[in-house]
Amino acid sequence: MSDFINVGILGLGNVGAGVVRLLSEKRTIIEKRVGKPVRITKGVVSNLTQKRGLDLSEIQMSTNPEHILNDPDIDIVLELIGGLSLAETIILTALKKGKSVVTANKALLAEKGSIIFPAAHDAPGFFGFETSVGTAIPIIRTLREGFAGDEILKISGIVNGTSNYILTCMAQEGMEFEDALEKAQEKGLAETDPTLDIQGIDAAHKLIIMMNIAFNGVFDFSELYIEGISDITALDIRYTSQLGYTIKHVAKAQTTKAGIEAHVHPVLVPRDHILSSVNNAFNSILVLGEFMGSSNLYGLGAGPGPSAVAVMGDIVEACRYIQTGQQRPISPFSIPLEAWTPRQLVPMETIRSEYYLRFHVRDRLGVLAFISRILAKYRISVRSVIQTGEPTKKENPVDIVLITHEAVEADIQTALEEIKGQSFIAGRTQLIRIEAE
Ligand SMILES: NC(=O)c1ccc[n+]([C@@H]2O[C@H](COP(=O)([O-])OP(=O)(O)OC[C@H]3O[C@@H](n4cnc5c(N)ncnc54)[C@H](OP(=O)(O)O)[C@@H]3O)[C@@H](O)[C@H]2O)c1
Repeated sequence: MSDFINVGILGLGNVGAGVVRLLSEKRTIIEKRVGKPVRITKGVVSNLTQKRGLDLSEIQMSTNPEHILNDPDIDIVLELIGGLSLAETIILTALKKGKSVVTANKALLAEKGSIIFPAAHDAPGFFGFETSVGTAIPIIRTLREGFAGDEILKISGIVNGTSNYILTCMAQEGMEFEDALEKAQEKGLAETDPTLDIQGIDAAHKLIIMMNIAFNGVFDFSELYIEGISDITALDIRYTSQLGYTIKHVAKAQTTKAGIEAHVHPVLVPRDHILSSVNNAFNSILVLGEFMGSSNLYGLGAGPGPSAVAVMGDIVEACRYIQTGQQRPISPFSIPLEAWTPRQLVPMETIRSEYYLRFHVRDRLGVLAFISRILAKYRISVRSVIQTGEPTKKENPVDIVLITHEAVEADIQTALEEIKGQSFIAGRTQLIRIEAE
């Protein structure tokens, strides 16, 4: 056995550079915990001439992944490139070659989990993916080991720091969405192309990965209902605040009598709800277990520091397996492969929720009565109403804001479709679901 644990790193961007810095600054502590020095001997990037502000003098660099994959001395492969196709090849090849693999690639695990996880299950090496969800929040280990003795009933959380930062700016500074997005980009909290974050796709990737572990099954990413935050307006933030709510972007999955329902979208949470006070780029994940009750994990869900710590946690665990010579680490998703079966989600149209509805209407006699009648036709009862705006002239647009009692999603959608065609409608109708508990 070598005197060192040798690591090959693919990708020296936000996460990879953080790992190199962390290992260089915490080398002694990590060596004590592992019992052997851990060193990065090889690295792969796409641009070798790029200045990175890192000491790479002891790392042999290349642009070719085979530089690492074909080296028999590399014990642990870090896939920190991102994307789907190349990352998939790298992970599958490394696993086949018996190496331990650590990845942060939530998109790949969410969309190709049915290929990656079984391969990891059958491979002799350790497979770590803690960084893929919540980074410095150790939710993967918590679900897989800490809560392995309980039946998980619900996971709900704020798992995208960019969206949460934008919503926080809108709530605290009265900004419109576009201005808050620009501020997030200036602060380095949103990518130049923020689509994955603001459309809810990144949060959905993380939800699917957590569901695979919590509910012991393979869920199809394409079945998940996903809505982002780009349609939320400063006006909605103001109205919902008057009603005692905060708007948050929440990823949620829960067991119901009909099966497992899961969705990712903005929600109104009561101001005294624990998620209401999760602000800026922080993440928080609530897990409800049958015996344990509710547990809350909170921390920074992105950034070089938190990501590097999460990757390093997986490296240390991999080192422990390598040190003890264990050939078959625990399953990546807490149950044997045979029991890991495809699971279907309850269709979104059948879920029940309370709703915030904002109609932008021309001020005419009988509009509220008409809307109430259509809602009643589809079994939707109204809990409270606010009519706003001081039209100076008849027909000037005003907002009618309604909070409904619990209703079925399909009924709400059909009712809104019927109302949409009316001549008094002066703009887009806003719908935000309400988180009751
Ligand atoms: N950023 C976060 O806070 C965070 C948190 C959790 C998880 N993650 C995940 O971590 C992964 C990496 O994210 P990141 O933010 O570090 O990305 P990034 O800053 O874009 O870095 C990507 C790195 O991969 C290299 N790379 C890309 N394509 C390559 C190719 N074809 N061949 C060789 N090298 C290639 C790039 O090389 P060059 O530098 O030469 O261009 C760069 O060093 C992603 O899966 C992401 O979802 C990120």
